[in-house]
Amino acid sequence: MNHHTNPDREARNILIANDRGGYTIPTEGLYPYQWNWDSAITALGFAQFDLDRAWVEIETLFTGQWDNGMVPHILFHQQDEGYFPGPDVWGCNGPIPSSGIIQPPIAATMTRKIWEQDTAFGDARMKALFPKLLAWHRWIMKWRLDEFGAVCTTHPWEAGRDNAPDWDNSMARMDASDVGEYKRRDISHVNSEDRPTKFDYDRYIRLVQIGRKAGWDQQELLSLNPFRVADPTMTFATLRAARDLLVISEQLGLAAEGLSTDIEKLEAGARSLWNEELGSFDARDTHTGEMSGSVSNASYLCWYAGVESDKMLERLKTTLETVPYPVPSYDPEMPKFDARRYWRGPTWAFMNMMIGFGLQDLGHTEHADQLRKKTGDLISGFGFAEYFDPITGSPAGGKAFSWTAAVWLHWAGRA
Ligand code: DGY
Repeated sequence: MNHHTNPDREARNILIANDRGGYTIPTEGLYPYQWNWDSAITALGFAQFDLDRAWVEIETLFTGQWDNGMVPHILFHQQDEGYFPGPDVWGCNGPIPSSGIIQPPIAATMTRKIWEQDTAFGDARMKALFPKLLAWHRWIMKWRLDEFGAVCTTHPWEAGRDNAPDWDNSMARMDASDVGEYKRRDISHVNSEDRPTKFDYDRYIRLVQIGRKAGWDQQELLSLNPFRVADPTMTFATLRAARDLLVISEQLGLAAEGLSTDIEKLEAGARSLWNEELGSFDARDTHTGEMSGSVSNASYLCWYAGVESDKMLERLKTTLETVPYPVPSYDPEMPKFDARRYWRGPTWAFMNMMIGFGLQDLGHTEHADQLRKKTGDLISGFGFAEYFDPITGSPAGGKAFSWTAAVWLHWAGRA
């Protein structure tokens, strides 16, 4: 423990080393491009020592925005043989080679934080970004809502929680027998025990093939895509983004029609993800209407979305007291818990930070502080890993990870 003697410097150095000129890769090797939500978190880290660079991170992300408003989950700014599936597999036609799906829309929220920090030049840069942030939000409202107002993910990668147990039933119903031959690259960079299984990976690739065949036409994919799950990550992130966009528009006097209505719809959607039997926010397969029965770290993003829940707060208290390194991505009491396998158990520092933002905003200061300190101990004790074993704290996945460094600088490492 505590072998990281100068974590501030180490964190800054990680961001600087992962900087590819205008955008930051999540980590060397495993993730060699710009990832959407990684970038939004990483910008917060830069904001602690280089505000201009923080803005640039978000501005670069939006250079990849499609004409219809969509902002892809990966921008392939340059070729890299070490990653699969690359631009040739996705077959997209945006301004920059990219994937055809999104990721949880946290950019508006993180950009608001940068703007509030930047009292000198913030307004001008925010004004330039605002229409783009709004266009992405509107694209999501148009294509991703279910009948209750919850926001759906159309690929496990879109929710950012690749192999979460939330998708197990939906994935099991999917046929991937005709996926064909392909070569995974992730398991040549990190331990395969820490990564999704082949069963899952076949389906990830099959879904890319289905999207590509439809030319990423969202209208067509509404009926063609076998995977459409209303998800707490997407729903809470979109609701929070709508609230932040509304505040920005009001403060800067920018037109942003419809946001109040969006917020009402999304609030109803968020409430529809409450699984009473489970006692938690949960995911719902829109094809079957079935809830997944998963308590994940995304369930705890309710406060981030401005949604209060006494029952989630009780759950959080128990988690903070009983799990050595909270918040686990899957409840350790549940049978599918796997301490090392990606989104099936491990603790993710950036998710903790977003949960912490929510707790703080809704006045649960004590819990926010507790979570922040525990996350700080985890990072200073075990380093800037992609994610951590919630029981032992041991680091897993990629090393020298940008968003973990950013979480340290912006939140967990602050006195
Ligand atoms: C991967 O390639 O594993 C990523 O999680 C996709 O976003």
